[in-house]
Parts: sequence; C-alpha cells; structure tokens
Amino acid sequence: MDFALSEEQLMIQQAARDFAQNELLPEVIERDDAQRFPAEQVKKMGELGFMGMMVDPKYGGSGLDTMSYVLVMEELSKIDASASVVVSVNNSLVCYGLEAFGTEEQKDKYLTRLASGEIIGAFCLSEPEAGSDATSQKTTAIDKGEHYVLNGTKNWITNGGTAEVYLVIAQTNKEKGHKGINALIVEKGMDGFEVGPKENKLGIRGSDTHSLNFNDVKIPKENRIGEDGFGFKFAMKTLAGGRIGIAAQALGIAAGAYELALKYSKERKAFGTEIANHQAIAFKLADMHTQIEAARHLVYKAAWEKDNDLNYDLSGAMAKLYASQVAMDTTVEAVQIHGGNGFVKDYHVERLMRDAKITQIYEGTSEIQKIVISRSILRD
Ligand code: CAA
Repeated sequence: MDFALSEEQLMIQQAARDFAQNELLPEVIERDDAQRFPAEQVKKMGELGFMGMMVDPKYGGSGLDTMSYVLVMEELSKIDASASVVVSVNNSLVCYGLEAFGTEEQKDKYLTRLASGEIIGAFCLSEPEAGSDATSQKTTAIDKGEHYVLNGTKNWITNGGTAEVYLVIAQTNKEKGHKGINALIVEKGMDGFEVGPKENKLGIRGSDTHSLNFNDVKIPKENRIGEDGFGFKFAMKTLAGGRIGIAAQALGIAAGAYELALKYSKERKAFGTEIANHQAIAFKLADMHTQIEAARHLVYKAAWEKDNDLNYDLSGAMAKLYASQVAMDTTVEAVQIHGGNGFVKDYHVERLMRDAKITQIYEGTSEIQKIVISRSILRD
C-alpha cells in the first residue's frame, strides 16, 4: 500500500495552499460578512486550472486525477469554503456530468468554456418539496417534439446567480417514476428563465445560492443529456463523485480549524503556561488530529477508487458522512480552544464552524449517506 503523493500532486497541493493564503485569506471575513461572491478569485482559479481539473485538456481541462482535485479542495477549504464550493460544483457536478454523459456537440459548446473557468455552471436538482427525495421532482419538462417545455422551481442552487450554464433535472413522464426524468442544459438568458433572490445563509455566505424559476422555457432536444429518461441516473452518478468533493471540503474545513487551534494553543497563556500544556487542551488536539487523519484516509481512498475505475458510491458516501461529522466536531472544539476569541470573527474559527454545517446537508444529507451505505452493505 502506497500512501505517498506524487511529485505532481505535491506541487498542485502547494499551489492551492499558496493561492488560499495569498488570494483567499485577505478578504475572506469581509466577503463572508457582505455575502460577496469571490468573483475575482474564481477567475484566478480558472487561470490556475482549478475549475476543470479532471477534464481532458482537449475540452479545456487540466487532465489531472481525482486525488489532485481532492488535495486542492482540501487546501482551499481550510481558508474559504465559499470559494471551494464553487470549485466543487463546477468540477464534480457540471464538468464531470457533461464530460461523462454529454454529446460531442454539448462538450464543444459548453464544457470547454466551463472547464477553463471562462464561465461557471450550476447543478439543479433540489426543489421546495424535493430535496432528499430526489425522484419526486415537480419541475416538468414536457416533450413537444423538437423541444421540451420546462416549468417549475429549483431551490438552494449553488452558483445560482453567477452561472451561465445550468444542468436541470426535470420530470418528463410522471408515470414512469425515476425512468421518466431528464437532465437538460439550460442557458442563462433563455426566455422564461428567472433567477430568484439570493439566500441569506448561516455559512458559506460568500457563495451564491438562489432559487430558480422556469416558466415555459423552450429547451432544444439537443440539450438533453443522455437517452430519454436518463436524468435520475445522471443525477445519482454525478452526485456520487460530487460527494467526494464535498467530503474533501469538510476535511479541509476541519484541518483549517485544527491548524488555527494548534497555533493558538501554543501561543495563548493561562495559569502560567501555554494552554497546550494543559491536558484539557492537549487531549482535544489529540482527538481532533486523530479524527482528521481518519477522515483524510476515507476521502483519499474514495478518490483513489475513482481514479482506478472502481465503484466509489460506498466509499464516497462514507467519506462524506464521516468527514462532515469531523468538520462539525473539530470546528466546535476549535472555537472552544479559542475561548472568547473564538466567538469573534477575526480569529476565523467561528466562520469555519458555520461553514462546516452545510457539509452535512448538501449533495445528500448525512441521513441520505446512511441510506446509500446501509443499502450497499445489505446488498453485498
Ligand atoms: N449510480 C447509478 N444508478 C443509481 C445510483 C448511483 N449511484 N443510485 C441509484 N441509482 C439508480 C438505481 O439503480 C435505480 O435504478 P433501477 O430502478 O434501474 O435499478 C434508480 O436509480 C432509483 O434508485 P433508488 O430506488 O435507490 O431511488 P430512491 O428513490 O430510493 O432514492 C436516494 C435513492 C439515494 C435516496 C436518492 O434519492 C438520493 O441520493 N437523494 C439525495 C439527493 C441529493 O443528494 N440531493 C442534493 C442536491 S444537489 C446539491 O446539493 C448540489 C449543490 O448545489 C451543492
């Protein structure tokens, strides 16, 4: 078993670490406060090749492996999870979905610009009444021969206001259940497509989350991804990889909070010594370090399975379930170690704690991951 990263992976990890320190850190508190999208930073991440990391260079991507992507997600998320979720959705859901299942025409028209970071994309599955229960889509895409007519509302859509390309999951034939669902490519500016107001969120406040309304939007047939009725499987297969990205985000949030807590506990003095010398704090650091390392093993294993063309549904779900719990536990403890300072924004850990929560909710809640995991172990 080889746990060593390659020279190339180490270089990419360092590039992401430098970018996070130099470009994300300076205004991260202000962006969080003002709910400001990291537009400039996203543009620079496109230039660095972070927006289409696993996409074939012939479609504008970086042609790297999932492991490199996970390393980048981890480093960015240590500093700014609002920026890293943009990277995650664009890479894992939008670019992957188009590269794996799109036609050559769709790849030429959309993927190249998405992978190079020229534009960003959004993945639209959740609805006001269908989040976890993803087969219960109320959004309809009615087949009119040459085109579909799309009607409905999507909720909590990451990149909702800033995206140019939206992959929308909608019901074409209700009688057929999950086999009557399609995935359609929708462009910003299509007649009848409206972006709703921005959500005011607990965490990842710099990311751009909106509802979307579709009123008789005409979608050409060539914008359907895959065969008629493939939409639900498209969503499941795409989300399986997405969960590795969010697991890496959770890992990064946890590691970022731990690094801050470790540094603080070696500087802050109480009762005549640095607080790290008190067992109450040292034991917290020991637990955090151990849990983060365990989460890292799960996340890297899932990435390794994807890179080796193995099935990663189970490992991705376990990685997301565990890493998101570790992100919550670690960030809460990091605030505790910082005491009163942990409760104010300048010390960063309160933001990481707020950001951690969403990793237990989006791209499949922890309860959904347990459904995926339990079904897998009971089936085998
Ligand atoms: N790969 C391929 N096919 C899959 C699959 C996978 N990973 N998972 C399920 N399927 C297939 C099944 O094989 C089945 O097909 P057949 O009938 O042909 O065998 C079909 O899909 C239906 O599967 P289930 O019967 O298991 O469906 P279900 O209704 O019981 O739901 C579920 C399964 C796992 C709970 C699913 O609904 C689910 O994952 N829900 C959560 C959705 C989710 O993650 N939402 C997050 C929103 S996206 C987001 O957050 C993005 C963002 O902006 C950050």
